[in-house]
Amino acid sequence: MAPAFQACRILPGPEEAVREAAAEFARRVRTAVQERGASAVALAGGSTPRGLYERLAAGGGAPGPDPVPWGRVHLFWGDERHVPPEHPQSNYRMTLDTLLSKVPVPPANIHRIRAEEPDAPRAAAEYEQELRTFFRLGIDQTPRFDLILLGMGEDGHTASLFPGSEALRDTSQLVAAPRIEKLGSRRITLTPRVFNNAACVMFLVTGSEKARTLRDVLEGKYEPDRLPAQIIRPLQGDLLWIVDRAAGSLLVACPPAA
Ligand code: 6PG
Repeated sequence: MAPAFQACRILPGPEEAVREAAAEFARRVRTAVQERGASAVALAGGSTPRGLYERLAAGGGAPGPDPVPWGRVHLFWGDERHVPPEHPQSNYRMTLDTLLSKVPVPPANIHRIRAEEPDAPRAAAEYEQELRTFFRLGIDQTPRFDLILLGMGEDGHTASLFPGSEALRDTSQLVAAPRIEKLGSRRITLTPRVFNNAACVMFLVTGSEKARTLRDVLEGKYEPDRLPAQIIRPLQGDLLWIVDRAAGSLLVACPPAA
């Protein structure tokens, strides 16, 4: 089944892509806050979102004195590396350095994955409980985030859904702790069920090294076991791909944004 709305926007360079993503972030959050008084967002890890978080921290979401109502935003993570929060590889740490230390998000609104727990499946179960409590979920219910940010690896992985991962087929859990053989470690990740229940999933992808994979993901055969990013298709939500010209250079069906 196709997402409610799907769009791919090719921006001239990484800075323009970041600007577009920041404006979209601010718009989605403000709309949710106006409608319901709060907004729940899941953040991406890796290196690409650094520029986005720095721009958001600098108030670059949209014109106006208060582009993002940070006091009303609840921040979660789509995935985390199995390391403590102060570790250089921690997605939480990257977000803390670039965004959280600079904007007035109340500490109680920061819902990090407690990846310092030595037992990764237990850390995943604890995060699932955190989601269940925050979203007040019944036993079979799935959280609905206003916005989930994602990136994509050169191998087509997204969040910590890697090629061949059993987490791609996991429909029972909200959070999984798959072992990633090529990394020799576990990761903690939301499952496709959660990503595909979001009101909006926004990918931010830049750089020529991702061009071939991006083409295969967006315009190739549907093979989510090989290209996990393909499994992301919010059923009652929007799917946005914001990419720069280098990453989008091999796409034929996605015209550059005006
Ligand atoms: C992570 C991720 C991961 C990331 C991609 C892209 O924890 O690493 O959430 O899915 O988004 O690997 O990473 P880069 O932005 O570093 O290329």
